[in-house]
Amino acid sequence: KRVALAFSGGLDTTVCVPLLEEEYGYDEVVGVTVDVGQPEPEFDEAEETAEALDLEHYVVDARDEFADLCFDSVRANAEYQGYPLGTALARPVIAKKILEVAKEQDCDALAHGCTGKGNDQLRFEAVWRASDLEVIAPVREMGLTREWEMEYAAEKELPVEGGNEGAWSIDTNLWSRSVEGDDLEDPSYVPPEDIYDWTTAPTESEGTELVEIEFDEGYPVAVDTVEETSTSSQPSAGNGEEQSAVDIIEQLNEQAGAHGIGRTDMMEDRMLGLKVRENYEHPAATVLLTAHEALEQLVLTKEERDFKQQIDHQWAEKGYQGLVDAPLMTSLDGFLDANQTKVTGTVTVKLDAGQVRPVARESDYAVYSESAASFNTETVDGIEQADATGVAKYHGFQSRLANAVAAGVEKP
Ligand code: ARG
Ligand code: SIN
Repeated sequence: KRVALAFSGGLDTTVCVPLLEEEYGYDEVVGVTVDVGQPEPEFDEAEETAEALDLEHYVVDARDEFADLCFDSVRANAEYQGYPLGTALARPVIAKKILEVAKEQDCDALAHGCTGKGNDQLRFEAVWRASDLEVIAPVREMGLTREWEMEYAAEKELPVEGGNEGAWSIDTNLWSRSVEGDDLEDPSYVPPEDIYDWTTAPTESEGTELVEIEFDEGYPVAVDTVEETSTSSQPSAGNGEEQSAVDIIEQLNEQAGAHGIGRTDMMEDRMLGLKVRENYEHPAATVLLTAHEALEQLVLTKEERDFKQQIDHQWAEKGYQGLVDAPLMTSLDGFLDANQTKVTGTVTVKLDAGQVRPVARESDYAVYSESAASFNTETVDGIEQADATGVAKYHGFQSRLANAVAAGVEKP
């Protein structure tokens, strides 16, 4: 019997390889690593570990597919409790690819290394349980702890990383990097600087940069560096060339990461109800989400923006749950398709010591009239300032009336 294992080369999934053979009686374990844009060193780790384990190993490229889903999430301003959805959106993409490989490779079962405490088990299995393959979760089913896994790995001489890096559970993809576990589990513990890998400490970052981001129907399509006062020389690709979603995200991760942008240290409410301490890095996501919202401020009416918050919230909830194929998502995307046609234009943001700030925005769809809003014009469309007097007289009338009634004084 054969089992396909979601394999990252980290502690959990490495330990799963011998366990699936010894404890679950599988003859062959097939490791599948899905490329969702995790940086090269991590990718190499998966390959090297697979080799050291003599594992039948497949690598599947899902970078474009994942980047497209990240950009769908930009249209919905998607965040969960204040951080962008990296791990959450990657899971269904990874799960589908592993299922495909499992079928091609005649596997009888699917396995993951997630614990029984987290979200990832739910996201993987939501996809896998639609198939007729068996689903195995060794870490959850055997009640393993990371300490036990480390001892077991040492005993079996499995190729796993030691030290802090080995103690933390790290998950990376194009959209974000997450670090959790070990000493970070104590919410009162201030993490050392070395939990961060994608971002320079904001206090150490140099200079500022102005970056122009172009959107087409809510999707980022190009990034141009328009001004640098930075002494560091960042790759300022883009500039006029066509860029894929992957290119845009990679460029901004580098560029904004160098300015210390996109760090989150938070308490997160997981689906099971547990609160956990999480640390994230997500420079590109922070820049793109900030710029996107700045463009919406220019082109959407107030009522559209107010209503859209509910759409965005539901989109992010489903995204967080890993249920991107839920029928509700199709309906939400229908709203976004109609609503985002106007979210076309450019936003300039300033990257500066841990902050990204919109500093300019432009669109053919701007619901903005400079002459109407300006303090320097007298009459607009036949309306003059004095016409607001009637509105000002009525404003707050109901409150004045109610307060007079409550105070027992004469009604206005
Ligand atoms: N709690 C986060 C989420 O559900 C991230 C989990 C990432 N996994 C990890 N092993 N670090 O999106
Ligand atoms: C895990 O528990 O396996 C990782 C964290 C999560 O799934 O939320």
